[in-house]
Amino acid sequence: MSVAGTGGVSKSYNRLQQLKSFDESKAGVKGLVDSGITKLPQIFIRPPEELAADNQTPSQFTIPVIDLKGVSGDRSKVVAAVREAAETVGLFQVVNHGVPLKVLEETLTAARQFHELPQEVKGEYYTRDKMKKVKYGSNFDLYRTRYANWRDTLLCVMGPDPLHPQELHLVCRDAIMEYSRQIKVLGSLLFGLLSEALGLNPEYLESIDCAKGHSILCHYYPPCPQPELTLGTTKHSDPGFLTILLQDHIGGLQVLWQNQWINVPPVHAALVVNIGDMLQLISNDKLKSVEHRVVANHRGPRVSVACFFTLDNYPSQRIYGPIKELLSQDNPPLYRDTLLQDFNAYYYNKGLGGNSALYHFLLQR
Ligand code: OGA
Ligand code: NI
Repeated sequence: MSVAGTGGVSKSYNRLQQLKSFDESKAGVKGLVDSGITKLPQIFIRPPEELAADNQTPSQFTIPVIDLKGVSGDRSKVVAAVREAAETVGLFQVVNHGVPLKVLEETLTAARQFHELPQEVKGEYYTRDKMKKVKYGSNFDLYRTRYANWRDTLLCVMGPDPLHPQELHLVCRDAIMEYSRQIKVLGSLLFGLLSEALGLNPEYLESIDCAKGHSILCHYYPPCPQPELTLGTTKHSDPGFLTILLQDHIGGLQVLWQNQWINVPPVHAALVVNIGDMLQLISNDKLKSVEHRVVANHRGPRVSVACFFTLDNYPSQRIYGPIKELLSQDNPPLYRDTLLQDFNAYYYNKGLGGNSALYHFLLQR
């Protein structure tokens, strides 16, 4: 491997060249760790002013955990809990969500096994081709951000026009296909609850295709030699309508709430749910697409599997704007109408960090 550079500022630091050699290794961050580095290559180091400004004060706020067992009983209680969480912190955990523990465990194992395949095998999947439905890579925004993240990802487009199972390596094929089926059912349940939380009929969000497509992202955060100098994932909000996240026991996910970073602790058998930018947009800011990040860790690897409900590279003509039923004289539309593809294109081109992509779609800026 030819990834040059160790930490520290060197006059000969050629950022673009280092990014390229990292990219061309097709081995991701895991490849660096396997090569035995003990210092962070410069491309991963956060700018000093960003490091200095990082507010690490712990906060007392606890992320709500909602028991979905209640949906078959007193549904209105569950709707109220979802509404409260979705309108405030925009992120909550769910238990008794219907996805069997065995499926959760097998999914995390499959994700890990993919990233731990021999480099010659895994490298075959490495691509930055936007149209591919199976994409292994590191830092989709590698060439557009100020510093790279300590994270590799396998992206799988699961619908409405899904990958062919044979495109997935055998170590993760069955598990990802099964997880995808299960998560679609849970997604549908959650969109029902969120529709009701907005005061709409339970089918509303699905009727406008919010659950029509989903993509699964298997993230791998290798142990990091200098975690205080970088991040696993830069601060961002998610692009789609809704995200369901499965994380392992390591921890590191944080959410920004009232200007403080709050840990989202791993809860056994739970799934993390967060509102995405598109749901904030169509709910006219009623539901909150909260900013979150992942800190790097000496411990690891950490594995997480995110499911984004959105349409990746699917040509939908549907126009999204604030839902008419929610608008009134006192609640005028805040956002302009957009195609999902246009929102996604803007989001991915911008990359993680900086202002939310939502600003670009505000009617008045
Ligand atoms: C994401 C994300 C968090 C995690 O995929 O958008 O925020 O814990 N993931 O990996
Ligand atoms: Ni996210």
